Amino acid sequence: MFHTDDDEQNSPCANLTFAQFLKLNCQTTHDSVDNLVMSVKPFDSPEHYVKFLQLQAIFHKVVDDIYKNPELNQKIDGLAELARYDDVLLDLQDLQASKKAISTPLPQLSGAETLGWLYCAEGSNVGAAFLFKDAQNKLGFGAEHGARHLAPHADGRGKHWRDFVAQLNALDLSEQERAAALKGALDAFAFYKVVVREIFGVA
Ligand code: HEM
Repeated sequence: MFHTDDDEQNSPCANLTFAQFLKLNCQTTHDSVDNLVMSVKPFDSPEHYVKFLQLQAIFHKVVDDIYKNPELNQKIDGLAELARYDDVLLDLQDLQASKKAISTPLPQLSGAETLGWLYCAEGSNVGAAFLFKDAQNKLGFGAEHGARHLAPHADGRGKHWRDFVAQLNALDLSEQERAAALKGALDAFAFYKVVVREIFGVA
């Protein structure tokens, strides 16, 4: 199909960068995830925090292969080192706890939708500033014990996120790939909610 200037002007997303496009279209869903997570009070007790780590372990396991994908690592510098699955497992070990099996099937991901899952996972480290503070102040965990996976990047959360976003925006994506990535991001948030509900036993 031909793409005209008129289409550009009529589309609310035409002038957005890839990351802005994802952010705009995920904001409401993100906020519902934020509210759901806070509603289960993950930092109110070590028992709740273990459940939160079990949830994080499942989510980060699903995205681990994306971070380690060799092709994507050619395009996004240092991507593999940003994976946080191993750190979540160490956090669980610190609390003498282990992973939890769930009945929800783990998604098999491919194509451009993986970029949406990656956006969701890496972006979660921006808001993790609040979670990290709660883990420190309410439970006494930190970057060396129990809350390794919530610690900021060595460059600082803000700078790291801006650099990461610049790399996402530099991927030369077609409209179809953008749409698939958005589907991936929304699926990732939806999956996270399903796992919160299963692990914390809330409706
Ligand atoms: C209680 C839990 C959470 C809180 C309080 C929280 C809070 C925040 C805050 C304050 C931001 C920065 C927003 C901005 O700069 O405009 C943010 C960004 C983000 N969060 Fe969360 N968040 C939470 C959970 C999550 C989870 C579980 C995920 C993913 C599964 C997630 C994914 C993201 C993403 C992708 C961004 C980047 C948005 C963007 O700038 O494009 N967040 N979060």
